[in-house]
Formats: sequence, structure tokens, C-alpha cells
Amino acid sequence: MGQNAHHHVPMTCAVVAQKGGVGKTTTLLGLAGAAWERGLRTLVVDLDPQANATSAMDPASTAYSTNDVLADARSGVAADAVVASGWGPGIDLIPAERALEHRAVPEGRDSTLRLRLALEGVIDNYDVVLVDCPPSLGELTRNALAAVRLALVVTEPSFFALPGAAAALEAIEVVRGSNNLVLRPAGVLVNRSRPQTSEHAFRLVELEAAYPNLILPYVVPERIAVQQAQGACVPVQAWRSPGAREVADVYDDLLDMLLTKAAETVADLGVSSTMTFSTGTESS
Ligand SMILES: Nc1ncnc2c1ncn2[C@@H]1O[C@H](COP(=O)(O)OP(=O)(O)OP(=O)(O)O)[C@@H](O)[C@H]1O
Ligand SMILES: [Mg+2]
Repeated sequence: MGQNAHHHVPMTCAVVAQKGGVGKTTTLLGLAGAAWERGLRTLVVDLDPQANATSAMDPASTAYSTNDVLADARSGVAADAVVASGWGPGIDLIPAERALEHRAVPEGRDSTLRLRLALEGVIDNYDVVLVDCPPSLGELTRNALAAVRLALVVTEPSFFALPGAAAALEAIEVVRGSNNLVLRPAGVLVNRSRPQTSEHAFRLVELEAAYPNLILPYVVPERIAVQQAQGACVPVQAWRSPGAREVADVYDDLLDMLLTKAAETVADLGVSSTMTFSTGTESS
């Protein structure tokens, strides 16, 4: 990759939702798996004290965590916490740990900018950077939103989907307005759908009516392969079953969409003529 000739801008995306258990981590792992399958250089930042993404990506060693990274917060310090995931070369991880809970409160001036500062320079080594968030729109999620260009909202097709999506979209607007003008909502992903149930179909219609431009045209079905792959600490793309292939196809489309949206945001800023954007189809 011609680092001198081109300004390389990675696709950076946080996966957010106020509600727990809707599939934030599953979506992040699905996207990381899609990037893995394409051979894109990928960094996953686990910003959830539950450390579910960390467990599922099975790193061999973890010296430092996002807790240490946010506590220090000097420019570029996140480089020290990057480890190889168990998924194979090119897929790196900044792990989380339980103690990250202590960083969930605002600390001093520019508290929201701690992750962005710590990642300075570090993200330039990657094509794709994904940040997993806790089930909250508090300080940790605000740090994630301040550090990325795209925010993907995840929901289930339930009665609580609409207010949950509204709260997440509002949080994105707040961070965009105060800390991160390049931030854009990438859309609302409906996860764990069983379209044959009338309740799910109804909620999907309701969501689309409320946010016609934001509900993504990809819906991730509920498939047992998702849980099997997570339990085996491998990308769902490596799991051999029809259900696994089905969700892998959705994550592939979703990754395409995110790469396209990221390229648009960069073009909007008028630097498109000097940047390269890796989609995984070109050799890099
Ligand atoms: N499409 C799916 N098909 C089958 N199981 C799924 C699907 N999506 C999520 N799950 C399962 O549902 C559970 C919750 O998903 P996940 O951990 O991704 O949610 P989350 O939003 O990250 O939760 P938390 O808020 O606790 O971080 C997990 O056990 C996961 O394997
Ligand atoms: Mg999670």
C-alpha cells in the first residue's frame, strides 16, 4: 500500500445499542469475519467490560486492555495494547477486561476523546477498525463514537426496538455535534429476525415507517450457527453449515455497504483524490 503516495483512510465503525443482548457483539464479529474472509487488515477494539468480543476472538496473550488504554489516553498509546487474535494473521484485537467498568465515568477535560487520542496513528495500519460497545449510551460508547466515522445501530424486531433505535441515533447526533463532525449513522441493522413470525414482520414494518432512510435493507436471521461459531471462537464465515453461509452473506453485504459509506464520507471532506480505499477486491 503506497503510504507516501496516498493518504490511507480506514473504515472505522462503532456498533452501538442502548439495549443489552440485541446482537452488537454478534454483528461486530460477523463484520470482522467478513473482513477476515477478504483478507482485509482488521482491528477490533473491545470497549465492553463484559469482554465478549475478546473471548470470541481468543487472543493468545493480553498484556494491556482498553481499560489501560483509556486510563493512559496519550496519543497513540493504544499500539501497546494491540494483540493478534486467534482468528489468524491480519485480524488484531485490543482486548477488554472487567476493570474497564472503572473507565465508564467521565474523567477530566476531553474525557470523551480518550479513545480517539489513544488510537491516533494506530488505525492507519488497518483497512477496517470495529469498536464493540457496552449496552449503554454512556461514557464508553461516547468514546467509541468520538473515535470513528460510522456508527451502526443494532436492534431486534421487538416492541422496544423503536425507542431503542431513537435513543442510539440521538446519542450519535450529540457526539457528532460536540466532538466528531465526520461521524455518520451507518443505519439500523435488524438482527435475530424470524420473518415468518407476524410480530417480527410487524415490528420491521414499524421500524421502516419510522426511519425510512436508516433501516438497512439487510436483516440478519436467527441461526444456531452464529452461537456455535462464537462458542468455537471462530468467525461464522469459517463455520460450515447452510445457516452459517446465510448469515455470512448478510455480513458480506453489510461490510460492502460500510466500506462504500466510509468512502463517501471521505469524499465529502474533499480528500477523495488523494486517498486509497481498500475494498478487498483489489490487491493491497
Ligand atoms: N442472529 C443470531 N442468531 C442466533 N443467535 C444470535 C444472533 N444474534 C445474537 N445471537 C445470540 O444472542 C446472544 C446475545 O447476542 P450478543 O452478545 O451479540 O448481543 P450484545 O448486544 O452484544 O449483548 P450485550 O449488550 O450484552 O453486549 C448471544 O448469545 C448471541 O450468540
Ligand atoms: Mg456485546
